[in-house]
Amino acid sequence: MSIEIVADAPAVATRAADIICASVRANPRAVLGLPTGGTPIAAYTEIARRVAAGDADLSRATVFAVDEFASATAATPGTNADFFRRFVTFPLGALHCPDPAAADPDAHIRAFAAQLRAAGGCDLCVLGIGENGHVAFNEPGSARDSRARAVALTETSRQAHAANFGAIDRVPARGMTLGIADLAESRSLLVLAHGAHKAAIVRAAIDGPATPEVPASLLRDHPHLTWLLDRAAAADLAVSG
Ligand code: GLP
Repeated sequence: MSIEIVADAPAVATRAADIICASVRANPRAVLGLPTGGTPIAAYTEIARRVAAGDADLSRATVFAVDEFASATAATPGTNADFFRRFVTFPLGALHCPDPAAADPDAHIRAFAAQLRAAGGCDLCVLGIGENGHVAFNEPGSARDSRARAVALTETSRQAHAANFGAIDRVPARGMTLGIADLAESRSLLVLAHGAHKAAIVRAAIDGPATPEVPASLLRDHPHLTWLLDRAAAADLAVSG
């Protein structure tokens, strides 16, 4: 596991864009897993800027979203499908998002994970971390060997998305996610976090015990895992002192 600590949120965005663009430069047909959430937005904006300037080209890369809400429609503001439309604006070879309207979310996300495996798996999977330690929608209690599945979302996660959906009652109670074992099959993993509100959970995920109670901690044995943090998110780590 490597831990890269940069000054602030804009520096996380720049460095994340560097890592994502380098992966696609090395393999223009790279398969990327990408997260939603507030954390990666500035990195996507930076990639869009580089693409517009002719400094990056993701037009042959394939992107798989790592999770989605269930019981919504792709047009519902707040879904990950909506997020990708709004923030991942640069041309891609293909973008695969689970369908939030899937009648059988469990079967749908299992088929989605099979589609990812058929595409060769992720060369690079980028993740955020929820304040409760979730990665994608692997909420606390997710096992190391968990696979793609429909999940009940915690109150913490629903609350974090209330603004995007307009109100907490509009946030779906269920989601679909690649499992911890699916994420760990990626050839490399990049976890992003910035801000003081992430410091405690980043510390738990990196310095605490590897436990399903902090799903991000279960990724730590991955041979190519990088944590990219700003100083505020890294403030409680043993290494940052
Ligand atoms: C969301 C998503 C995750 C995301 C995480 C962190 O609920 N399901 O994929 O990484 O929570 O979100 P944020 O970046 O807004 O803190």
